[in-house]
Amino acid sequence: MAQRILVLDEGTTSTRAMLFDEAGRVLDSEQAELQQYYPAPGRVEHDAAEIWDKTLRCARAVVERAGGAAAIAAIGITNQRETVVAWDRESGEPLARAIVWQDRRTADFCAALQRDGHEDSVQQRTGLLLDPYFSATKMRWLIDNEPGVAAAAEDGRLALGTVESWLVYKLTGGRFVTDASNASRTLLLPLDGADGGFDAELCALFGVPQSALAEVVDCAGTIGETLPELFGAALPIAGMAGDQQAATIGQGCLATGETKATYGTGAFILANNGSALPRSQHRLLGTVLYQLNGERTYALEGSVFVAGSLVQWLRDSLGVVGTAAETEELARSIPTSGGVVIVPALSGLGAPYWKAEARGVIAGLSFSSGRAQIARAALEAMSYQTADLARAFAADGAEWTSLKVDGGMSANDWMAQDIANMLDLLVERPAMVETTALGAAMLAAVGAGVYRSLEEAADAMRGETAIFAPEMGDEERAERRALWEKALSAI
Ligand code: G3P
Repeated sequence: MAQRILVLDEGTTSTRAMLFDEAGRVLDSEQAELQQYYPAPGRVEHDAAEIWDKTLRCARAVVERAGGAAAIAAIGITNQRETVVAWDRESGEPLARAIVWQDRRTADFCAALQRDGHEDSVQQRTGLLLDPYFSATKMRWLIDNEPGVAAAAEDGRLALGTVESWLVYKLTGGRFVTDASNASRTLLLPLDGADGGFDAELCALFGVPQSALAEVVDCAGTIGETLPELFGAALPIAGMAGDQQAATIGQGCLATGETKATYGTGAFILANNGSALPRSQHRLLGTVLYQLNGERTYALEGSVFVAGSLVQWLRDSLGVVGTAAETEELARSIPTSGGVVIVPALSGLGAPYWKAEARGVIAGLSFSSGRAQIARAALEAMSYQTADLARAFAADGAEWTSLKVDGGMSANDWMAQDIANMLDLLVERPAMVETTALGAAMLAAVGAGVYRSLEEAADAMRGETAIFAPEMGDEERAERRALWEKALSAI
């Protein structure tokens, strides 16, 4: 009975708990939406206490329905990456709002570091670029601007961590760890892992006290044990990874060159780079895919900041659609977008452009443009952003031979087909598109000894897939690309 894996999947817009069996089937799930705070243009915050409360509530509901803690073999955790939480190690309470990965408030600090010539060496050491997306400048901002955070730093009570660290701290009653995949998103972790942990020189460059940072651990194994009072008995936390790395594992991209794209709040494309350090010449990122027994496997990553959040914005702010699913019907109702192109730079542009100050554009509007054209253009923007990354990966010597897609938005058949068309490649989509949670379940299954390796877990836990084959002629593809490039040049 106790072969069930409880996954805590803490994303940008919602947090949830999912129960998996050893065959990778989802037995139960409970989800809660998270409040998004937008205190000023370019700023995005979360309430870390709310993240913890809702995550715990969802987990408890699932454990209770499973018949109690005895049914659970292990917990796997996966999370929105880069988002920074500052908390007090003595009280265990947050000291400020969490700064979310989408937040651009440190753009000036990043630009100053670029002007001072630090980008090459930072990229060389961490695999990342000087962009506000990553955690270090957000950590520094909290120290400089939140008196409570500064005071805690002064007297050694400050904990600065990403969301998995925060959750483990709360779940275990004080264990302060981060896994190498999440740590590799901070700008403070040397990719090569020579001594495993955060680096003093990088901490000094960004002005982040190393003493406020967590211990860096493997993505599977004995990560911690939950406080017995939370679920009725102590449960082992046996797997942990950033959500995009977890999705890569859940997609079974375990061999060098295998590539996945997850369409969630943003779209994140990762290609397994094996044990070789990823070195991009085309503004892609090098990141830790996972660390097992101290050995790192790496990935090359293209991060697109806006994907599902564009459809959400069309729904919630413009009222163009009533539900996200309606975009599919609208896209199918017309033969083309009528020249309408959306460049979804609502929180700057990520890879391969990295324009922190860019803002979104809807181009090509005419009186015949309506809801359908806008909805279709929103979905087409996903294909264009993916195709731009395909070029960057190819230029870096990591050409895709097919693409595995997943994430809530990939359930849209029209979009999956359009991506295949614009890439001129086979696109493969699993029947269960929540591969992020599956990847965390696989890590926890390995960490708890249910399977001996990720390969064994993948064989046992991954299900059926559907294939989308390209159906578009070269001419149409070229015309569409030209429209996108024209719109892109306007920002
Ligand atoms: O790097 C940000 C990423 O981890 C956010 O993921 O699933 O909330 O779009 P998601």
